[in-house]
Amino acid sequence: MIKKCLFPAAGYGTRFLPATKAMPKEMLPVLTKPLIQYGVEEAVEAGMHTMAIVTGRGKRALEDHFDVSYELEHQIKGSDKEHYLTEIRSLIDQCTFSYTRQNEMKGLGHAILTGETLIGNEPFAVILADDLCDGNSDGGVLSQMVELFNKYKCSIVAIEEIDPSHTNRYGIIEGKEIEDGVYMISNMVEKPDPANAPSNLAIIGRYILTPDIFGIIENTPAGKGGEIQITDALMTQAQKGMVLAYKFKGKRFDCGSVEGFVEATNYFYEKSTEQ
Ligand code: G1P
Repeated sequence: MIKKCLFPAAGYGTRFLPATKAMPKEMLPVLTKPLIQYGVEEAVEAGMHTMAIVTGRGKRALEDHFDVSYELEHQIKGSDKEHYLTEIRSLIDQCTFSYTRQNEMKGLGHAILTGETLIGNEPFAVILADDLCDGNSDGGVLSQMVELFNKYKCSIVAIEEIDPSHTNRYGIIEGKEIEDGVYMISNMVEKPDPANAPSNLAIIGRYILTPDIFGIIENTPAGKGGEIQITDALMTQAQKGMVLAYKFKGKRFDCGSVEGFVEATNYFYEKSTEQ
């Protein structure tokens, strides 16, 4: 059973400056909820209740968000505004949140390795909160992946088909389809130019990782951009055993870009007016 979910959240969010100058990018709200809260809700829906958050300098708002705000709660207790806090309170009641700091920016692989102290020796999930996902009737993206993990017991990355001209924005996989939408990975490359990309199947910010990944990351040299890439570590894992890619059911928004963020806002707004 997968109990823990890791959130690498130390990045600067430069594409959203100046909004992210004094505020973590994971706190940017889509409607009334910060991005990280959507991620935590997705993890809870997938049965995880231990949230491990890798933060950095200037990210204290994340810790405050997942804590009781006595003054505020006292202020609105018994008023017609109390319901605004219902969802976040319920998350705080259901989950534990632990934090560790990544004090150097050395890539996503390094951020995940930094979280080892919070995860230990068990399989775990990873959510990149700026990839905002909405599942379908089969459940959230992470719960779809957990179901697959229970069958194959190996690391899994979520993928989607992208415009081939955008391969240099993502980790790209190549593999053999072993069941509908499930690929056994034979190759994966971090942000290749379109001319060298093995396919247009891009990794999005949802992973399930087996804990041997930590030792592999420790031995993974810096790759693309001089950073330690999880894509490279997963390639090693795929060569030693098996790593799957899963074409998830649902929608994903790149909330690390202004365009994706606006799309997500419109989508969730439409959805909220339908209910
Ligand atoms: C990271 C990963 C990349 C993946 C992407 C998904 O890149 O390195 O393989 O495709 O997340 O969002 P980043 O967006 O952090 O540069």
